[in-house]
Amino acid sequence: MTSTPRPVRKAVFPVAGLGTRFLPATKAIPKEMLPVVDKPVIQYAVEEAREAGIEQFIFVTGRGKHVISDHFDHAYELESQLEGSGKLKALAGLLESLPPNGSVSFTRQQRPLGLGHAVWCARHFVSDEPFAVILPDDLMVGTPGALSQMIKAYNEVGGGIIVAVEEKPREETRRYGVVDPGKWHGNTVEVKGIVEKPAPENAPSTLCVIGRYILPPSIFAQLERMERGAGNEIQLTDGMAKLLGHEPFHAVKTECARYDCGDKVGFLHANIALGLQRPDIAPALRKILASLPK
Ligand code: UTP
Repeated sequence: MTSTPRPVRKAVFPVAGLGTRFLPATKAIPKEMLPVVDKPVIQYAVEEAREAGIEQFIFVTGRGKHVISDHFDHAYELESQLEGSGKLKALAGLLESLPPNGSVSFTRQQRPLGLGHAVWCARHFVSDEPFAVILPDDLMVGTPGALSQMIKAYNEVGGGIIVAVEEKPREETRRYGVVDPGKWHGNTVEVKGIVEKPAPENAPSTLCVIGRYILPPSIFAQLERMERGAGNEIQLTDGMAKLLGHEPFHAVKTECARYDCGDKVGFLHANIALGLQRPDIAPALRKILASLPK
């Protein structure tokens, strides 16, 4: 029987990327603040983490990202105006979305040297415990949420590394970390190897890593080496690969829909799909979609 692993209480949100695929929208606004229907992308990620029992939210930001910290703080003037004008439902929604006092921390990645480097920048906040990494660009929709499903798998396999994976067409492996799968147990598979952005002919499978990870604190010693990988960036995948054989390593196919909000088409898809799930918006949106020229 596997022993109960240490709980995952902290989540790191790397949001220091430049968002060049969304220029000019992201010139003055971080891409994580672009709204899907009426909530910024980052809020979906924080809600998913809260649902999974995360208690500490650690943002790794960069230049021009201060509005993210404003979003997770009180806006006293707005709150008192909403109260004064009797817009109590809107006020309650704002207050509900605030993480508890003292549960949010911010650190800066001073130069965007890669995802592995961004995660390493959070080391003092994470300290010596397992933690989750959530890339807000990957908006995951499902019940339970993607991180909850991963934490369940983490407890079942006895801890270690867990990554979320999705089956992708072979010609797309160049855009992802790709795992070499071993034995399956339900929706969880052992990981025998992992490689970042392989050419389709070299990819060990078509199981591609998407933006959710559970990592042990031993990852920091690997990232500390500052070794450059694909795209000359410090890659999280390379750090995880070094832990193969030292930590249990599994991948989970979640039962969630995923929308890549770092990509224009994925972002529009998310807005339409989530809009169609909202009773207050769906009827009007459906009419508009039906009226569009084919
Ligand atoms: P992306 O590969 O999407 O890069 O990063 P990007 O810069 O955000 O966007 P584009 O490609 O220029 O449009 C994946 C995730 O890793 C974070 C990003 O913020 C995003 O959440 N990241 C990436 C960092 O925090 N720091 C980095 O150095 C690189």
